[in-house]
Amino acid sequence: MDRLIITGGNRLDGDIRISGSKNSSLPILAATLLAEQPVTIGNLPHLQDVTTLIELLGRMGVQLVIDDRMQVEVDVSTIQEFQAPYELVKTMRASILVLGPLLAHFGKAVVSLPGGCAIGSRPVDLHLRGLKAMGADIDVVDGYIHASVKKRLHGARLVLDTVTVTGTENLMMAAALADGVTYIENAAREPEVVDLANCLNKMGANITGAGTDTITIEGVETLNGTNHQVIPDRIETGTYLIAAAATRGRIKVKDTDPTLLDAVLQKLGEAGADITQGENWIELDMHGERPKAVSLKTAPYPALPTDMQAQFTAMNTVAEGTGVITETVFENRFMHVQEMNRMGANIDVQGNTAICQGVDHLKAAPVMATDLRASASLVIAGLVAEGDTCVDRIYHIDRGYECIEEKLQLLGASIRRVPA
Ligand code: EPU
Repeated sequence: MDRLIITGGNRLDGDIRISGSKNSSLPILAATLLAEQPVTIGNLPHLQDVTTLIELLGRMGVQLVIDDRMQVEVDVSTIQEFQAPYELVKTMRASILVLGPLLAHFGKAVVSLPGGCAIGSRPVDLHLRGLKAMGADIDVVDGYIHASVKKRLHGARLVLDTVTVTGTENLMMAAALADGVTYIENAAREPEVVDLANCLNKMGANITGAGTDTITIEGVETLNGTNHQVIPDRIETGTYLIAAAATRGRIKVKDTDPTLLDAVLQKLGEAGADITQGENWIELDMHGERPKAVSLKTAPYPALPTDMQAQFTAMNTVAEGTGVITETVFENRFMHVQEMNRMGANIDVQGNTAICQGVDHLKAAPVMATDLRASASLVIAGLVAEGDTCVDRIYHIDRGYECIEEKLQLLGASIRRVPA
């Protein structure tokens, strides 16, 4: 298992390009299962999770042609299997996204039930309840979801108990090929849901309201091929901006979309960052000053994303003052806190709130990543620590950050990967 060794203390300073969004790429790759003709997807990030979904499609017999710029042409006309096996689903929960498209297009699907997760229990009951309301027969046998429908799914009014991103996406994809109209109420408003809806509409779907809390999907008979570029990764963007702020540095992130980061940029402004932005870039400059601690509460979009919570916590460890961070989306997403405290941070977790009193600097220690965003936060902690921090289990980071050490090196960080 590879590790990252980071020698802290360098102020980040430089320009980098942002990759395509992981959490858009996954549902859009799954959506290709709905099409009658080949679909081409571009701006896919070269990440482990994307590779896993491509492998999952390949195992079903789907034909994929990948070029050297990670543009993928997907042709599902050769599909033979309608299964997502446990060995792939256990490495990536988002594999559940093939359930809706398989069921809607082919009338059947067998998908392993995702197991436990490091950040919370993360059930998929709302996905299943929605599909049942659309006429699916669903049984869970030996850890597998067996779903089928006699003719076609039918439209339904679905009111989601909790805002769920992949749940909204799964149901929207299923409804695209259902008979009649489906309304998804209390839908997720995340930009990745909008990107998926835009791609489906290009394939011939009839979806309105994506980006609001009610999505209306008028089912169509068939969906066609298209060509779609995924949106920039807003979480990768935010992670590098926070890393620059924590190190009192300067950064320009290019090929991004500032309009997707309002809540994050507002917090960075509160931290004292000087932020300028253009159509597809953001520049942040701390002018060498220590960040001020920020307080925040995570919630579904457009509020502060849970996927940025750990990185803001890392910035607070070395900020001026006390920051109070409340996590409302996942019940167990503070695993990074203990690791940061081992590096000299002063964070007290009370229930779903982390109270952090900023210290002058952290001290290097061997630390272990527990999930994707926690790993990113430990890298930020390493960047502001005295000495050499070794971040273990970085396979988590490779699931969501393309070329992280190269990008940080471009910004002047001292970071290297060592094979175990
Ligand atoms: N929930 C239920 N029942 C369901 C579905 C969700 O109770 O059927 C609950 C979850 O337990 C959680 C809340 O609803 O408490 C929100 O979870 P959601 O379903 O929105 O999460 P997700 O769709 O599984 C996506 C992202 C996550 C991101 C969350 C929240 C993808 C592939 N994953 O997960 O991204 O944290 O939304 O924004 O889009 C990451 O990239 O590191 C990551 C974890």
